[in-house]
Amino acid sequence: MNGVAHPISLDRDRSLLYVLREELGLTGAKYGCGEGECGACKVLLEGLAVRACAIPVSEALGRSIVTIEGLAQGGRLHPVQQAFLELCPFQCGFCTPGMIMAGASLLSQNPNPTEEEVRTAMDGNICRCGGYLRVVEAILRAAQGTLRPEARSR
Ligand code: FES
Ligand code: FES
Repeated sequence: MNGVAHPISLDRDRSLLYVLREELGLTGAKYGCGEGECGACKVLLEGLAVRACAIPVSEALGRSIVTIEGLAQGGRLHPVQQAFLELCPFQCGFCTPGMIMAGASLLSQNPNPTEEEVRTAMDGNICRCGGYLRVVEAILRAAQGTLRPEARSR
């Protein structure tokens, strides 16, 4: 979990999201629908974005998991995090961790996506505040490296 091994004592059928939030205190992944529909709970499992509410923790045992708390590396924000800071594509922010993890997953597989590819990749992330256009713009900016220099060095 974010580079650290954690023994888990709970029922192996518990969702990964439950264990993250209730056992490990990692509350960045949000409980939205709890039914695999909204994307608010997305984390990276072996580098790919997954819905933590829809995965039993037994499927994640022994595998690499990264949550929003562990996405920054060496004191540097992930480019998608930087882009979100730059463009603020959120209002309440509830969907934001899941959006960022989905964007990070996309760029790890496709570093130079088209707008259409970004829209397709983000299709499973729901924002009740309606900030979709700026989310797409932020991910494209992260991919294109067009952030302000000061944003890159934060
Ligand atoms: S809380 Fe997991 S998809 Fe909605
Ligand atoms: S910013 Fe409020 S749900 Fe997306």
